[in-house]
Amino acid sequence: KKITAIILAAGQGKRMKMPVAKQFLLLKDKPVLYYSIKAFEESNVHEIVLVCGQGQVDYCKENIVKPNSFKKVTQIIEGGAERYDSVYKALLAIGHTDYVLIHDGARPFISVGLINNVINIVKENKAALVAAPVKDTIKLVDTKGWVKDTLDRNLLWSAQTPQGFDYSLIRKAYELLYKEEAQDIKKVTDDAMVYEMFINQPVKIVRGDYYNIKLTTPEDIIIAQGIINEYNNSGS
Ligand code: CTP
Ligand code: MG
Repeated sequence: KKITAIILAAGQGKRMKMPVAKQFLLLKDKPVLYYSIKAFEESNVHEIVLVCGQGQVDYCKENIVKPNSFKKVTQIIEGGAERYDSVYKALLAIGHTDYVLIHDGARPFISVGLINNVINIVKENKAALVAAPVKDTIKLVDTKGWVKDTLDRNLLWSAQTPQGFDYSLIRKAYELLYKEEAQDIKKVTDDAMVYEMFINQPVKIVRGDYYNIKLTTPEDIIIAQGIINEYNNSGS
């Protein structure tokens, strides 16, 4: 069975408020994007489709893929305006495979072991995603700032990536999302959500870890520097 990874790096990183998109910021001496490609390269996936921003395909090829001899990267394509547009473009570019693992290029600390766990679980269940139990108490709050409810923390998990799917099912889900011209399209924040909306089959959680953060706001850079130093100290 063929397993294809999609690594997303076509965002502009607006919340990071840096002149350079966050996936190209340096951690130690390597761009953020390098770390996730390296983990997938060392995992059991067979090929990697890298999704870059408009006009950045050559940059990614010359500065990240070639110098690091990433052999599994078979395609580098341009993404779209929103994350779901980038995913859809990648799904169409793949054409055929058995399973896809979709990963945020802004999550550099994904481990090879977790990727391989997702592969094993997606083969059994058709849909699997990495998630971790939430640590904070989560309040449901209305738009005026009043608490409406306190959710049961034992049932709440933070969705991370990679998220793995049977290729034909996730492709079908995305095709339906676009066909519907669903007003709901604007609410889509991850791939499992699209699968949940259109495919009437369950999604299995793969327990993740708290290192697999997504670099989103400026303070995440400070946390990432702490994690990368720890990685280096432990020799991994
Ligand atoms: N992404 C993408 N194509 C887009 C938007 C996002 O490939 N049109 C990717 C980002 O590069 C990132 C991942 O999806 O690796 C998660 O998205 P997010 O954290 O929202 O990144 P950005 O969209 O870049 O950041 P922001 O929302 O703050 O602008
Ligand atoms: Mg975004």
